[in-house]
Amino acid sequence: MDWITIVLSLAVLLISLYLLLSETSPNAPPCVKGWIPWFGAALEFGKAPLHFIAEARAKYGPVFTVHAAGKRLTFVTLPEHFRIFFMSKDVDFEQAVQDPCYQTASISKESFFKFHPACNSLIKGRLTPGNSALLADHLCEEFNAHLEQLGTKGSGCLNDLVRTVMYPAVMSNLLGKCNAPGHMTAIQEFKQKFAIYDEGFEYGSQLPDLFLREWAQAKQWLLSTVRNMISRVQDNECTDTGNQTLLQHLVTTITDKFLPNYGLLMLWASLANAIPITFWTIAFMMSNPITYRTAMEQIDAAMKKQDKKKTSLTLEDLQQMPYVKWCILEAMRLRAPGAITRKVVQPIKLQNYIIPSGDLLMMSPYWAHRNPEYFPNPEEFRPERWEQADLVKNAFLEGFVAFGGGKYQCPGRWYAIMELHMFVALILYKYEFTLLDSLPKPSPLHLVGTQQPEGPCSVEYRHR
Ligand code: HEM
Repeated sequence: MDWITIVLSLAVLLISLYLLLSETSPNAPPCVKGWIPWFGAALEFGKAPLHFIAEARAKYGPVFTVHAAGKRLTFVTLPEHFRIFFMSKDVDFEQAVQDPCYQTASISKESFFKFHPACNSLIKGRLTPGNSALLADHLCEEFNAHLEQLGTKGSGCLNDLVRTVMYPAVMSNLLGKCNAPGHMTAIQEFKQKFAIYDEGFEYGSQLPDLFLREWAQAKQWLLSTVRNMISRVQDNECTDTGNQTLLQHLVTTITDKFLPNYGLLMLWASLANAIPITFWTIAFMMSNPITYRTAMEQIDAAMKKQDKKKTSLTLEDLQQMPYVKWCILEAMRLRAPGAITRKVVQPIKLQNYIIPSGDLLMMSPYWAHRNPEYFPNPEEFRPERWEQADLVKNAFLEGFVAFGGGKYQCPGRWYAIMELHMFVALILYKYEFTLLDSLPKPSPLHLVGTQQPEGPCSVEYRHR
């Protein structure tokens, strides 16, 4: 036997063993296994995971499992199963995200289970609707200052313009002015490092740093930036906003050496979804002239011919612009996170299937929002559908899960809505935009968080 025959025979033996040993129980959901041991269907899945989910659902039905990179991901796609996903005691959020938090922010397992509950309660408590309202005046000042730096006219990539203004403004608001990148070079550097970290976040949550050198470097850069921020807080250099910032609260909550690592994750969570959703909101509005006109009528009426350079925008003003809020929620609906996750800790029964403990249970807000029973003509951008929601009482439309649900629903959601409402109203009041490209498609490459645009979206803008 030559060596090629030996290698081939070994490969056939390994694959047969893999297929035999990974034989699942008769009650298990249909399974996409792939044929490579351990990797399973990771290669096919990884090419365009967002599309893969839809194709697998059409082929295998509403509950199915995907073997990928040593993990079993069981997807649930029926609204009646979402309650179990969010509420059942047999599934667990912390168990599901502990390992990704270790991979992406190097937080040890022990520290994670010790401090995560306090960290979650802290953010939830600091960013209630009432507490988010206290941050509004300062945020408006920051948006004004950074919008002015765009000049009287210009052109560029809309996504980049939004980042240039929002990153420093939101960081100043949540972490303290002394902790926001101050001048253009610092903003550019932060944008570049954050984009690498954010873009690689999903791979980084699964692979060791060794395989992702540029990503690992960006992570180290961000970690050392957050470490410097914390030193400034501890040296009392950040007393500018009057109130204690979210970062100041974090510093008193996390008492082990992983404090900067929690700071990094908090920073990522506060920017990674809200900023691309702002881009999508403006892009959707610009590509729907009637929507744009309707929004502008409300914005102009509420602002009453204010100074366009230093515009004061209060929460009462925002209440006069419900249509702008509908546009934001509609953009969130159409660009909701690709998937969220829980770990099965006790076997659960769904339809006639038993999902074993150890599986990662997955649900896709992106696809859930395309169910025509809840959202007629789901692919259409129709802000008017939000008229049915009781937003005054902070209730979303039934079937809307962009912020997840249950105990671990996004704790930053009220701040996010306030922040986006204020930014979209301000930028459209100050500037007139012309879209130079057609509305890009969402990239299908990631399941974690909001999709980035697949193609370019350039604009020209000038002061109104
Ligand atoms: C449009 C903007 C946003 C969207 C769509 C969004 C969405 C989400 C989703 C889907 C989750 C997971 C929930 C679950 O699994 O049930 C989450 C978690 C989280 N979000 Fe948001 N989010 C947004 C903005 C924000 C902002 C502005 C902040 C902070 C200021 C924030 C902080 C967090 C944190 C800290 C977690 C993790 C909670 C934990 O580990 O306990 N998010 N978000």
